[in-house]
Amino acid sequence: MSSHGSLPRIAVIGCGAAAREFCLPVLRRFSDYRQRVVLVDISAEQAQSTARAFQIEHWCIDYRSLPLEVDAAMITTPHHWHAEQARHFLSQGLPVFVEKPLGMTEREASSMTELASAKGAVLMVNNYRRLFPAYQRVRQILSTGELGSCRRVDIWDGTRFAWASASGFYLRDARARGVLLDRGAHTVDILCWWLGGCPAVVSSRTDAMGGVEAVAKLELAHQQTVIHLAFSRLERLRNYYELQCERGTIRGRLFDFSRLQIERNGKRERIQAGPMRSYADWAWKLVTNFVQVVRGDERPIFEARDVAPSIGLLEQAYRQAGSFAMPWYDADPNVAALTRGDSAVSGADPGDRE
Ligand SMILES: NC(=O)c1ccc[n+]([C@@H]2O[C@H](COP(=O)([O-])OP(=O)(O)OC[C@H]3O[C@@H](n4cnc5c(N)ncnc54)[C@H](O)[C@@H]3O)[C@@H](O)[C@H]2O)c1
Repeated sequence: MSSHGSLPRIAVIGCGAAAREFCLPVLRRFSDYRQRVVLVDISAEQAQSTARAFQIEHWCIDYRSLPLEVDAAMITTPHHWHAEQARHFLSQGLPVFVEKPLGMTEREASSMTELASAKGAVLMVNNYRRLFPAYQRVRQILSTGELGSCRRVDIWDGTRFAWASASGFYLRDARARGVLLDRGAHTVDILCWWLGGCPAVVSSRTDAMGGVEAVAKLELAHQQTVIHLAFSRLERLRNYYELQCERGTIRGRLFDFSRLQIERNGKRERIQAGPMRSYADWAWKLVTNFVQVVRGDERPIFEARDVAPSIGLLEQAYRQAGSFAMPWYDADPNVAALTRGDSAVSGADPGDRE
């Protein structure tokens, strides 16, 4: 991206890992970014240390009272703040780029997209996996019907949690929910985008027991396609996708953004769909697009309203979620109480009462 010209004045709300990895490296390509970015974090220490690290002049702790007028906002706070904070800026008619997940519920997502369209403001979301060339090729194969209709999809998405979160909200704050929303915001969006529609939830199981889930399994259905998704924060899963179609099977590694494989008529074809790039490169491409949109130089590659249906599916999966069979907990009354949302009833080991 050319860094010629002036950077629009941008408020970055939330100064944690996502801001530091995805937003600020792009904004600082502009020579005047130090005066034109305002950092906001509920933690003054985090705002100040980020300001120091990126040599940014303006920072504050409340997005409702910024030290300078801005042209746009980027929301990189924990999930449950996205809707409220995005709406604050959208209601002023300002363009907003929000981190994934777009919102916590279908209602939040639609309140944001509807406000954006009422105000004529662009609302983008960082579902940058839509830019991966391998994923784009899968979508193309399915939409052209080159392999016939899709019968079955399996996706495994799991690694041991190791993201360098500044606040630790992912594991500590139940308001943000767990792995299903966090990883599902990408994977379920990609699935809906591939299939050209949002599947229905057939069954949903998590290990939440009233808290933050670390494992989730979904069964979904879309027309004649059955879909199985598995998510984990506890361990590395296969991190693989497989789409069985009438005349062939598409396979790929979830985190190989460029290559995939098609098997048809007993033959395997390896496809290099695009250049090998890092995660950050793709996220930077989308952030760059947002900056150019605010400057009036580009159209959004895609908008938040394209992603919104996947939030509805995730909400439905939470609503229908049951527990895995965990017989080793059955004898413990605390588990039943926590699952109902009560506080724990007993500190005693169930074995103590026998
Ligand atoms: N697109 C992606 O692949 C991707 C990758 C990582 C994170 N994210 C998203 O970015 C968001 C932030 O994640 P992170 O990893 O940077 O978290 P983090 O814990 O590293 O940082 C969050 C920051 O927000 C601040 N904060 C909390 N509540 C606030 C509020 N009400 N107002 C202002 N600041 C507040 C915290 O003090 C912290 O500094 C999440 O929604 C996450 O899903 C997206």
